[in-house]
Amino acid sequence: MDRIYFDNAATTPLDPLVLESMMPYLTEKFGNPSSIYSYGRETRMAIENARKSVAKILNARPAEIFFTSGGTESSNTAINAAVYDLSCKRIITSPLEHHATLHCAEYINKIGIVEISYVKILSNGHIDITDLERLLEESKEKCLVTLMHANNEIGNITDIEAVGNLCKKYNAIFHSDTVQTVGHYNFDLRKLPVHFITGASHKFHGPKGVGILYINENIKIHPFINGGSQERNMRAGTENLYGIVGFAKALELATANHETDREYISNIKSYMQKKLRGNIANVYFNGDYDGKSLYTVLSVAFPKTEKSEMLLFNLDINNICASGGSACSSGADAGSHVIRAISNDLNQITVRFSFSKYNTKEEVDLVVEKLKGMI
Ligand SMILES: Cc1ncc(COP(=O)(O)O)c(C=O)c1O
Repeated sequence: MDRIYFDNAATTPLDPLVLESMMPYLTEKFGNPSSIYSYGRETRMAIENARKSVAKILNARPAEIFFTSGGTESSNTAINAAVYDLSCKRIITSPLEHHATLHCAEYINKIGIVEISYVKILSNGHIDITDLERLLEESKEKCLVTLMHANNEIGNITDIEAVGNLCKKYNAIFHSDTVQTVGHYNFDLRKLPVHFITGASHKFHGPKGVGILYINENIKIHPFINGGSQERNMRAGTENLYGIVGFAKALELATANHETDREYISNIKSYMQKKLRGNIANVYFNGDYDGKSLYTVLSVAFPKTEKSEMLLFNLDINNICASGGSACSSGADAGSHVIRAISNDLNQITVRFSFSKYNTKEEVDLVVEKLKGMI
């Protein structure tokens, strides 16, 4: 059986058109963008065009877009800046955040620089917005609120406009990890009340190792990585030129085909839901899977049996790629902090299936057929 890739929340395959756009910068257009001669001017131009294109799509200003090495660096930059440059003394976050956020916030807390508070989680995996307001209201210090737009493990989508408005009311800084939604949802950053958002192109058929950090123009911070004057003195280091070109192209393609891709992928997700329900007894879905949820992610709780304990292993030997939790921790097998936070049912085995425009219903049929024998 050919490999079936149902782990698109971990990463996606590169779109051939993205590769094509990157190729000249991997070959003949190799100049350092900081060089003043023609080779350098040509690659500098490519970066600035990429920035303009990304800014236009997100309805931001080019000066608000900074290229980074990915979601992790972008979130680390924003969180550190909020604490060290913007005087935030308390971080309000949730136990469901990606480790790029949680571990960064917890480290700054551990070294005694900030207090940390976790917003309550409702039974459907959404944050309790009333509790968020309580935390903001009770805080005597300036707060950084860092809450993700969509959860990479269960798919839940948070109303970041509502969160942003609360932050405005209480004069808090708002950072949102939007790694799972940039390239999948439309953003209007002129209107969205947010100070920082993040993106990583490998989540929407772009290259790995390149991301963006949006910094609202009213915010003035120091660089997180010090060195040369790249990215207008905000992020030192020779630019990932072909990555940046690929980021912009991937975002352009994702945006142009958004409606079609969204409908196609949503159908695959609901088809898999139906097939699982029809074929496997006592199957559950985590989070708000039918409501405010990513159309790409389906987190499935299978009943725990002697056989199903080997589920991930069995999927792998059957050439089916899926994740037990967050892809970024797969292999470590520490269990998922997200699943632990929403459910303490030890009699379930969770598998995250996540889809892209390259998946088909035939693949779903094959996977469900195989799963029947594995439970
Ligand atoms: C929600 C979320 N945030 C942050 C990251 C980290 O992004 P990167 O791997 O590009 O650093 C990921 C990657 O899985 C993610 O899903």
